[in-house]
Amino acid sequence: MQVTLFSPAKVNLFLAVTGRRADGFHDLVSVVAPLDFGDELVAEAGDGRRETGGSRFSLTCDHPEVPTDGSNLILRAAEAFAAATGWNTPVHFRLTKRIPPGAGLGGGSSNAVAALRALNQLSGGLLVASRLREVAAKLGSDCALFLADAPVVMRGRGDRVEPLPAPATARLRGRRVLLFKPSFGISTPWAYQRLIARGGDYLPLGEAENQLAAWVGGEARAEELLANNMEPAAFEKYVALPLLLAKLRREFGAVARMSGSGSACYTLLSDNQASDPLVALIRACWGAGAFVQEARLS
Ligand code: C5P
Repeated sequence: MQVTLFSPAKVNLFLAVTGRRADGFHDLVSVVAPLDFGDELVAEAGDGRRETGGSRFSLTCDHPEVPTDGSNLILRAAEAFAAATGWNTPVHFRLTKRIPPGAGLGGGSSNAVAALRALNQLSGGLLVASRLREVAAKLGSDCALFLADAPVVMRGRGDRVEPLPAPATARLRGRRVLLFKPSFGISTPWAYQRLIARGGDYLPLGEAENQLAAWVGGEARAEELLANNMEPAAFEKYVALPLLLAKLRREFGAVARMSGSGSACYTLLSDNQASDPLVALIRACWGAGAFVQEARLS
């Protein structure tokens, strides 16, 4: 028996890191939307013949840079599922990787949630929704959001997730997004370390909530929501990012932001806007090695 699941990428439309926590993580307030672009995960329950390294879970991936050992969040999710349920059927995962790693697009977390959902389907639903959320949240700060299948507000370290009110969701859903990432990635722990070292980039919680409430309760377009206070830490080292974002604004009036801890950036496109001139500028600045992808907020 096998199941095939879509594993979407995400973008942070609004990201305010508000301070450090006692557990070493950071508190944040973020609006995050899944995209109609992402990876595909096939999970095949079998007799264990493919089993490697003593584990009954195995993984293959078409992307050479993605680790397929126990460090991959898919296999960590599978172990967490087995520990939570006692289900012991061998499963082989096949991942078709389209979301670039080190991008701030949530690829690893999304894959972990897809693996949990796949195993829950294969096992006949051993985990109820609330338990699935608990297991997912322990795997990574960005995992909980992928269970919502809709734009959400994320709080705490990312584990507290609630849907956006319907009128706010309506201003986001279906909007065209142009994603672009330079050939290098940014490590999330590194980005948070830089934030700590710089000290002054945090946005006080009250201010973050006020900014969010003003947009949610108003009628402004999605463009007015875009913010990310992790940008200065990343931009200080990776100057190719702010240079291109400034050019996009100057030449096309495009509001572009970094997603999460980077290095992927994005801009919103209007319905009938041609993306070709923007793509040409991105390629001219960042070269053929850049990742460029059009998608929609879902
Ligand atoms: O939870 P996740 O594996 O995505 O986090 C990667 C790293 O990013 C953490 O080890 C931590 O250093 C940092 N982080 C943080 N605060 C968050 C999320 C991540 O400090 N809310």
